[in-house]
Amino acid sequence: MRLTDCHNFHDFRALAQRRLPSPIFNYIDGAADDEATYRRNTAAFEDVDLLPRVLRGTPEVDTSVTVMGQKLALPFYLSPTALQRLFHHQGERAVAGAASKFGTMFGVSSLGTTSLEEVRKFAGPQVYQFYFHKDRGLNRAMMARAKAAGVDVMMLTVDSITGGNRERDKRTGFSIPFRLTLAGMAQFAIKPRWGINYLLHEKFALPQLDGHVDMGGGAVSIGRYFTEMLEPTLNWDDLAGMIADWNGPFCLKGVIHPDDARRAADLGCQGVVLSNHGGRQLDGSRATFDGLAEVVDAVQGRVDVMLDSGIQRGTHIVKALSLGAKAVGIGRAYLFPLAAAGQAGVERMIGLLRDEVIRDMRLMGAAKVADLGRDNIRYRRP
Ligand SMILES: Cc1cc2nc3c(=O)[nH]c(=O)nc-3n(C[C@H](O)[C@H](O)[C@H](O)COP(=O)(O)O)c2cc1C
Repeated sequence: MRLTDCHNFHDFRALAQRRLPSPIFNYIDGAADDEATYRRNTAAFEDVDLLPRVLRGTPEVDTSVTVMGQKLALPFYLSPTALQRLFHHQGERAVAGAASKFGTMFGVSSLGTTSLEEVRKFAGPQVYQFYFHKDRGLNRAMMARAKAAGVDVMMLTVDSITGGNRERDKRTGFSIPFRLTLAGMAQFAIKPRWGINYLLHEKFALPQLDGHVDMGGGAVSIGRYFTEMLEPTLNWDDLAGMIADWNGPFCLKGVIHPDDARRAADLGCQGVVLSNHGGRQLDGSRATFDGLAEVVDAVQGRVDVMLDSGIQRGTHIVKALSLGAKAVGIGRAYLFPLAAAGQAGVERMIGLLRDEVIRDMRLMGAAKVADLGRDNIRYRRP
């Protein structure tokens, strides 16, 4: 199987599975507990049908959107994800480079493996994703550094005050950085190309955290990072303080309840991302598409509502836009292509998804995103 054989999410996932050592593949692919929310995230889109409008003559389709003051050429963006250099040695450079090329937004993760300053060199809209640590000094330093790097939008992730129960990672012993002991090597020996690339390229690091995660003293599981380093008492007052300190466009990622979205609007956020972290945190949490209309209605246009979790197709994006999302984030949908083929993989995926959105909008009779609305969809169940 080659990159040119990849036509959709499932093809990229299969190619990534072939290329990656299994602990890494399962870290990306896995979710919390029984992974019920993970499955529902995508299945939810099948509970509504699209109602295309015909005979409207739509030769040109404009896919651009504006979210939180950022102009995106596409209505989907690359949601922030951790550890990208583990998935492919080009890591964040590949993903940010591809996003820049297509004029869409890239999210820089607090757990990124390429420095914020390096990623900022790529033109185009970007958000900086923030994890709120117990160490307030670290938080202040991270914010000051983000300001100095010219970050426009600050995105605070609020669904991860403790680690989700990711049992696949427990089974495989997934941790950062990989200690390539003899036993560790054995696990990776069956994927020698990945191992050689990992060893030959720059040393693994988490530059956004600037030495605060101890890389020398042994491997840290992702669950331990969340549980030991992040602030479990994080509350609305902390958010208000952070919004004031940041003094610029601010966005909350990981909102599910409409009242929380309303409160984020009251506090002056420009955006909320309806997200359950791709099912990786609280299993049984509501699928984001199921809750989208309620959240859009709750905020009454006071904040831009975005949605992520479960997006695999152009029609998923068209359905979310029809219900009132301003843009849609993708996670695994670009991570598998990254793992499969680096920047070439991410570019192929973005191009395919863009073509799907254009084709779907044309078939819907929508020449621009604003032409999509609730009248374009019907729920199958009352
Ligand atoms: C491997 C992986 C790592 C992630 N790392 C982060 C992260 O560092 N910060 C964050 O806010 N969200 C993180 N997420 C969540 C994504 O930003 C996004 O919410 C999620 O992937 C959307 O679901 P999807 O994968 O079904 O598209 C991660 C997701 C995955 C799959």
